[in-house]
Amino acid sequence: MENKYTRELPIKTTSFPYKPATMLAPMEGITNHPVRTAISAIGGVGVVCTEFVRVSVAELKPKEVRSIMRPTEGVPLSVQIMGNKPQLMADTARKFSEAGADIVDINLGCPTARAVKGNVGSAMLKDPDLLFDVLSAMRKNISGLQSAKIRAGFDNADHTLHIAEAVEAAGVDFIVVHPRRRNDFYEGVADWRIIGMIKERLKIPVVGNGDIWYPSDAARMYKECGCDAVMIGRGALRNPWIFKQLEDQSDWQPSPEEVFAYIDGFMNDHLNEFEGHEGGVVKRAKENWRYLCQLFVDGNTVGREILRQQTYSDFRNALQDFLESKKRDDFDFFGHLKLKNSGSGI
Ligand SMILES: Cc1cc2nc3c(=O)[nH]c(=O)nc-3n(C[C@H](O)[C@H](O)[C@H](O)COP(=O)(O)O)c2cc1C
Repeated sequence: MENKYTRELPIKTTSFPYKPATMLAPMEGITNHPVRTAISAIGGVGVVCTEFVRVSVAELKPKEVRSIMRPTEGVPLSVQIMGNKPQLMADTARKFSEAGADIVDINLGCPTARAVKGNVGSAMLKDPDLLFDVLSAMRKNISGLQSAKIRAGFDNADHTLHIAEAVEAAGVDFIVVHPRRRNDFYEGVADWRIIGMIKERLKIPVVGNGDIWYPSDAARMYKECGCDAVMIGRGALRNPWIFKQLEDQSDWQPSPEEVFAYIDGFMNDHLNEFEGHEGGVVKRAKENWRYLCQLFVDGNTVGREILRQQTYSDFRNALQDFLESKKRDDFDFFGHLKLKNSGSGI
């Protein structure tokens, strides 16, 4: 399909503007401020992202903007907004830009029925003219960087290059590509070839995302797709040390005590977040533990009794007992044990 959009603004950078060239993916309900802080404190994270902020009816109040704008020391913050009204999105982008967001990102990938019904998130991939208008309006109000996070089309990946061209033409500084269609949700395998095709076509930096479970996957994505940076989501919840392992290019891994200290640390931060309300802390800790369990070969069954604990102290004690019973070699940070046992690295 011929590109009908033209970019009027110069391209600020053709390489990813942050070091390390890595991003912790936005994950609604999970990557809140304590989790972003805990993962980036380990090291190797180039950019952290807020969960998406729905912008559908009215402008956000200053208090709402402040509660979303929670930077993590030393790591640039990307604020992700989701909506389809050009003026409202532009006004909201200005608020976050003025509040100090390093990057204002638009969500063009949310696959939920609610997003599709509201014609936002992945639904906007069906309408490149609309997303061009929304992104162009936002551009005028963003003094830092602007980015867009796309999927490989709504129900047909043939349009992905066309969508990416519309994003670039609107003046965006870099694009993040999760190469699954909306209809795939999180099923199947992310088709990295699409990241490579977009990289070949666009001049702005391209960030590859999807199915990076091990540091070696990230190295393979850089090599196979030629992308400028990688974004890691579920792989970083399973292994929050993945960014550090990537940066150091080493097979260093934490001891069971260090794994416990990581979870204990962010539980403490959640206590402040939830103003001492322990039920909320245990709920959050369990969500994260479900991912961390996948560090064990029998991840779907191991450590499950911990999930049955109801109180903060029971959860913490069960976790400590469990991790004290483990050796460093029981953790499968690099996928070798799973490969040996199941023939699958994931
Ligand atoms: C629980 C969950 C919540 C997510 N929330 C968001 C979100 O708020 N914004 C967004 O752009 N993507 C969201 N995603 C998608 C991820 O950012 C990422 O694109 C996807 O998980 C693929 O990357 P991965 O294989 O590294 O996890 C979410 C994914 C999961 C699993």
